[in-house]
Amino acid sequence: MTANENRAEFGSTLGFILSAAGSAVGLGNIWKFPGKAYACGGGAFLIVYLIMVALIGTSVMMAEFTIGRKTHKGAVGALKELNSKFAWIGGLGVLTGFIIICYYCQVGGWAMYYVVSYITDVQTVWADPMAYFLGMLGSNGLPVAALVWALVFLFLTAFIISHGTAGIEKMSTILMPVLFLLLIGLMIRSCTLPGADEGLKYMLHVDWSTINGTAILTALGQAFFSLSLGMGVMITYASYLSKDDNLVSNTGIICVLDTLVALFAGFMIIPAVFATGIAPGMGGAFGFATLAGVFMAIPGGQFIGMLFYFLLFFAAITSSTSILEGCTAYLVEEKGFERKKALVGLSIVIAIIGTLYTLSQVYMNIKGIWISRSGLEFPIFGDFLEYLTDRLLLPLGAFFTTFFVGWIWGPDKSITEATSDGKYKFALAKPYAFLVKYVDPIAIGAIIVAGMVFGMNIS
Ligand code: TRP
Repeated sequence: MTANENRAEFGSTLGFILSAAGSAVGLGNIWKFPGKAYACGGGAFLIVYLIMVALIGTSVMMAEFTIGRKTHKGAVGALKELNSKFAWIGGLGVLTGFIIICYYCQVGGWAMYYVVSYITDVQTVWADPMAYFLGMLGSNGLPVAALVWALVFLFLTAFIISHGTAGIEKMSTILMPVLFLLLIGLMIRSCTLPGADEGLKYMLHVDWSTINGTAILTALGQAFFSLSLGMGVMITYASYLSKDDNLVSNTGIICVLDTLVALFAGFMIIPAVFATGIAPGMGGAFGFATLAGVFMAIPGGQFIGMLFYFLLFFAAITSSTSILEGCTAYLVEEKGFERKKALVGLSIVIAIIGTLYTLSQVYMNIKGIWISRSGLEFPIFGDFLEYLTDRLLLPLGAFFTTFFVGWIWGPDKSITEATSDGKYKFALAKPYAFLVKYVDPIAIGAIIVAGMVFGMNIS
């Protein structure tokens, strides 16, 4: 380590992979991805998504990793050190993270609510899964319990950050593999439900007519969201690495793991959508309402359901801590706030904006406070926050990051860092240089514009 002698490093490569994969694998994979794959037409969307991850996602991740390890600093500090004119790219990431965390904690709270529901009230959940889900969000009155659980989730996130993440990293060595295996098991069960083959067909049938500018932008934004890219989180994680760590293989492992989890979730949920007929307008309901059909069809489904929501909660909290940490580190390192005060202040604002997110799903929507685009199904405020981050801010963050590496810092320096000054092999170094310099900025820029201009009609 050269820059700061007293900065901590990860104890082992495994520790780093677990934290970076813990940040990547979260609600994005299980709650968001299946809904988008469904809304954007199944098979064709899967192909577009995989291309986005393989070409753009991996190269943006490598760009972020090399910036972080080169400087051993968090996002804003790292860019400042490499070229002080570009520190604002890190600042943009902090703003993006702040918006994401507002709604992320709400959905994390819903997962906790479902852990409790499966323990105490599973018959009511199963009697009418969709009604139960909408009830949680306020179709019968103010959604107090959901809001309280979201506060608990936010509190836990802030608590973990203020006490250090070593504990949950240890837990993830056990729980992440359990989640992985459980998803595989549930996927198999879901695909063998009566009627599920229609869903499998939907996911495997490639119909290019479903792909338009919006679908491509959705796939791109989803790839960034799922891989935790575009807001400097991976810069910060890599800043704790030493030259002994192989960035090339780590990038590959994290991208593959994260994408596998998303695919498992997709093939777990979409077949269940067709088998159970629970296909609500809101993609967000898939992970909650639709899955009930799978748990009902399994012996011990109550326990498995509870375990699933617990692991979903755990996956969510290893992601939410990575997001909130970015915002907190910025206030502490760049603005001189005291850490506890920064956390408390942030948490209060996050709680207020987040509460509006949950309220806008059903409660305020039904009361007509948010004008919706089509009927009452689409809560404008909630959609707005997600569009803002996934379709605009994350792609913009990635655009500027690759522009910075490709044209300001230079792909050569990035590659030297990626190989630890030639110690490790980077067979795809040339394609990487081409990607960060030309393909990424041009493609990301074009997709942002095309997605905005052509059709905003599917979510
Ligand atoms: N990747 C996480 C998920 O899929 C969410 C997340 C964590 C994230 N850190 C991030 C998204 C940084 C964008 C940027 O749930």
